[in-house]
Amino acid sequence: MSEQKVAVVTGASSGNGRAIALRLATDGLIVVCSDLQPNARPGGYDEEPDVPTHELIETRGGAATFVVANATSMGEMSEVVEAAVSQYGHLDVMVNNAGIFTGLATIVDESEEDFDKTIAVNLKGVWIGSKLAITQFLQQEVNGNSRGTVVNIASIGGLVGLAQEPGYCASKGGVVNLTRQLAVDFADKKIHVNAVCPGFLETALVRPFLDDPDLNAGLHAQSPWPNLGTASDVAKAVSFLAGDESAWVTGSNLVVDGGFTAR
Ligand SMILES: NC(=O)c1ccc[n+]([C@@H]2O[C@H](COP(=O)([O-])OP(=O)(O)OC[C@H]3O[C@@H](n4cnc5c(N)ncnc54)[C@H](O)[C@@H]3O)[C@@H](O)[C@H]2O)c1
Repeated sequence: MSEQKVAVVTGASSGNGRAIALRLATDGLIVVCSDLQPNARPGGYDEEPDVPTHELIETRGGAATFVVANATSMGEMSEVVEAAVSQYGHLDVMVNNAGIFTGLATIVDESEEDFDKTIAVNLKGVWIGSKLAITQFLQQEVNGNSRGTVVNIASIGGLVGLAQEPGYCASKGGVVNLTRQLAVDFADKKIHVNAVCPGFLETALVRPFLDDPDLNAGLHAQSPWPNLGTASDVAKAVSFLAGDESAWVTGSNLVVDGGFTAR
């Protein structure tokens, strides 16, 4: 049984998930990295993209492991949680980060297949990760002021309508309110459930926007803050929600967007 806190991060190989895993390891947590593949997606902005996240953590003196899993599969995600518990004795933090964006289209042109895929990964994946983590937390004692913490990576697309993103916004709106709902059900058990709602930032997922001069200019024009964010901005917010300083924070959707949704 490890004394260190143990976190699972889904979609940990690239972008936000990778930055979150690296940050939690720096915070002293053991990180079980999970993704479809260990390597970062091509076209991202990750440091040392050829080195899988768990190896990078180990190189920097942290503790991590990798378990391949599709976040949409209850069976595969059960194995991820089981790996954390069997190797380290407990699970303390579940970061449901894995997500996809299938491209800009209004509902007229969005395919049913893309809508189903988006809901499956972005919303059902969060439901599965939360269900498995909370089931495990309920078998554990309260440690400090928490029996366990879920941090969901939603989006500003869960708070406002983003042009031509119907499936994505629907999925993230679901995550935002699932987060509140779970917080209500499990507050009395001292289980924290929060979400981070990032704005547009530099990852492979947003590369198509950033590489298009018009879309890029539009994003900058809509952002009150002079620069777009980075994955490490999201990771810092997750670090706060996963740590002891947020002991009385549950059911919140922490907006990290440079003021994008402030007006
Ligand atoms: N980049 C942004 O501007 C932004 C803004 C708001 C929210 N988000 C959210 O942040 C999260 C991470 O996005 P990102 O920008 O880092 O994207 P990304 O594409 O750079 O990385 C996503 C990672 O998730 C993995 N993944 C995809 N589908 C998976 C599945 N079914 N099971 C397991 N892993 C899977 C990918 O392999 C990849 O490693 C997503 O939930 C996304 O919606 C991103």
